[in-house]
Amino acid sequence: MINEYPSHQEVSKEQLVQTIFDSIANQYDIINNLMSFGLHHAWRKFLINQTELKQGQLVLDVCCGTGSVTFDLAAKVGNNGQVIAVDLSSKMLSIAESKLAQKKLSNIQFIKANALYLPFPENTFDCLTIAYGLRNVANIQLALSELHRVIKPGGKIVSLEMTTPIIPVIKEVYNYYLKSWVPWIGSKIARNRWAYQYLNESIRNFPSSETILHFFDQTGFINTKCFKLCFGIVAVHSGIKP
Ligand SMILES: C[S@@+](CC[C@H](N)C(=O)[O-])C[C@H]1O[C@@H](n2cnc3c(N)ncnc32)[C@H](O)[C@@H]1O
Repeated sequence: MINEYPSHQEVSKEQLVQTIFDSIANQYDIINNLMSFGLHHAWRKFLINQTELKQGQLVLDVCCGTGSVTFDLAAKVGNNGQVIAVDLSSKMLSIAESKLAQKKLSNIQFIKANALYLPFPENTFDCLTIAYGLRNVANIQLALSELHRVIKPGGKIVSLEMTTPIIPVIKEVYNYYLKSWVPWIGSKIARNRWAYQYLNESIRNFPSSETILHFFDQTGFINTKCFKLCFGIVAVHSGIKP
């Protein structure tokens, strides 16, 4: 079992994140279910509703992981639409690819790419989603400006992210859960405590929802909104590229 992760000085955040997700890819979906007590389905549904996607549109799912959001987006845009989904981790992408092979959908394409340097021209996508991704990128503001670049004028960005609640008693219970339950599940199921220790730290170090909303505004998105779900444990941010 792996108990310690290398210090952030030793490896870049991108390498660290890639190593972490490669190492937990096989157990990612089941642990996600356990850690959120199944609530992630409802959070994902909220995200998909916020996209306001229509049949036939082109959407980019950034930090797609094993493709949970990607498959819902594909259903929303239909056979005449298309979803392109990118991630840094080859192992997460290979799980997504094997799910795709079973579903036999022809409107999804998975690509290995970095959210900070997307291999697409500007003004390409009608909509862009990023679920549990902003917390993992090396620089949130740079990532947002890269995401802004590839969205068409009038197109929408929707982000779903874990965050820290502000109500004191909920914050305390949640911090306890992050410090104890999350690494415990990581050690028992993924046999990888450090990956889930990283998860715990990444949530606790993530900027507040208000700061993220400010970053959306600063990047140039308009009509920006923030919805807090589950007592503020989850935040959904959205904005439009003018
Ligand atoms: C917590 S998972 C979320 C996966 C998926 N969106 C979901 O809802 O389950 C975060 C994903 O972001 C990916 N990731 C982290 N940094 C990235 C980057 N700079 N570019 C692309 N993908 C990245 C990781 O490899 C990982 O698969």
